[in-house]
Amino acid sequence: MAKKKAIKQSWAEPFKIKVVEPIKMTDRKHREKCAKEAGYNTFLLKSADVYIDLLTDSGTNAMSDYQWAGMMLGDEAYAGSKNFYHLWDNVKKYYGMPYFVPTHQGRAAEHMISKILIKEGDYIPGNMYFTTTRLHQELAGGTFVDVIIDEAHDPASEHPFKGNIDLKKLEKLVKEVGAKKIPYVSMAGPVNMAGGQPFSMKNLQEVRDFTKKHKIKLWFDATRACENAFFVKEREKGYQDKTIAQILKEMCKYFDGLWVSAKKDLLVNIGGFLATRDRKVYQEARNMVVVYEGLHTYGGLAGRDMEAMARGIEEMVEYENIRMRVKQVEYAGMQLAKYKIPMVQPYGGHAIFLDAKKFLRHIPQDQFPAQTLASEIYIDSGVRGMERGIVSAGRDPETGENRKPKLELVRLTFPRRVYTQSHIDVMVESIASVYEERKSIKGLKFVYEPKYLRFFQGKFEKL
Ligand code: F0G
Repeated sequence: MAKKKAIKQSWAEPFKIKVVEPIKMTDRKHREKCAKEAGYNTFLLKSADVYIDLLTDSGTNAMSDYQWAGMMLGDEAYAGSKNFYHLWDNVKKYYGMPYFVPTHQGRAAEHMISKILIKEGDYIPGNMYFTTTRLHQELAGGTFVDVIIDEAHDPASEHPFKGNIDLKKLEKLVKEVGAKKIPYVSMAGPVNMAGGQPFSMKNLQEVRDFTKKHKIKLWFDATRACENAFFVKEREKGYQDKTIAQILKEMCKYFDGLWVSAKKDLLVNIGGFLATRDRKVYQEARNMVVVYEGLHTYGGLAGRDMEAMARGIEEMVEYENIRMRVKQVEYAGMQLAKYKIPMVQPYGGHAIFLDAKKFLRHIPQDQFPAQTLASEIYIDSGVRGMERGIVSAGRDPETGENRKPKLELVRLTFPRRVYTQSHIDVMVESIASVYEERKSIKGLKFVYEPKYLRFFQGKFEKL
């Protein structure tokens, strides 16, 4: 007998809305003016001119009533705030790391770990670059080496763990430069620039075995670690019955330490930290944090922010929360697929990534197809995404040439607990109509190019 299709297939957000923030739709003429004034860079738009803001999931989350209640319990003492100790307890409990230093956001922790571990002339292998991570490694005198599997550079590959490290590439680097020149392997999960793609537990174990053998440290960019844990639960054999908290803890067990931009997983608007089991690194970080951030018991944060982070950790591992997040991204992908929009496969943990090379086939990479597409979508509907291609990749510090990444993408990133399914439907229809008009779209040229992280403040003109 043919199996009957189940009636109950839908899921809903595991919350109801208590506070609302009005947003407004503007007209196309206004948005054309705004885009031009912003130099066709979505980072330079005023938020008030944006309708649905999918620029980033960083610090844009909606906090729960439990977190807001915690904000009122902020202990704003300069030293030894009780919120610091609550946060530290939760870092120990959920990430399993004994030592912890708070920072105002992720890149401050990246700055510290890069300065502490990297010496001039070192190499830092990683599963694809991230903009701020690589820059701090370079500023500390290191050279980043991409050792992610080849599939990660192919938007169409359906590999379930495109965040995996290719051990052959890692081995080749060790042979070429020697293990002594590699202070640590930098592993992120899921991999932001690859399209929010996770690594598998199996791959992590293999990388750990390899690094142990060669006495190389292994550090974790755990910014979106709960999304990685969710994919492991969904896709990797043996993890179906484990909780997100159990998988997260197991994952962290393999690393010497980690850094986190709390503005993502932790469901807050600001914050970051470094946590480790390495006492020496901890002592150095504790020394450094007072120079760059503030005392080691607040690291550039208010007590109330640390309380919101402590409570955010408890919520981020709740299955319903993380499932809603990842399934919302999947819903967006499935709707876009109905219009045959070229995207990175499989859909990522935090965002949908449009394949701008395919979307705007007629625009060569040095005319910035992803930058162009992000601004065209904004002009069409007020939906704001961001470029993740040649502009983000920047220039090679040695040759000064543009780095030409294989992935030329527009990222539509979903803030946690902020938008509903109807917002996504509006976004989908806008992208579908830009796709229909794609042949009339022209590329861009740089008119202002900053030295560091040019995607943030660079300005362009239409060709
Ligand atoms: N690591 C990853 C994987 C990130 O995605 C980010 C930030 C950082 C580190 C740096 O943290 O912003 O708190 O200083 N990503 C944001 C984004 C900016 O939009 O993807 P931060």
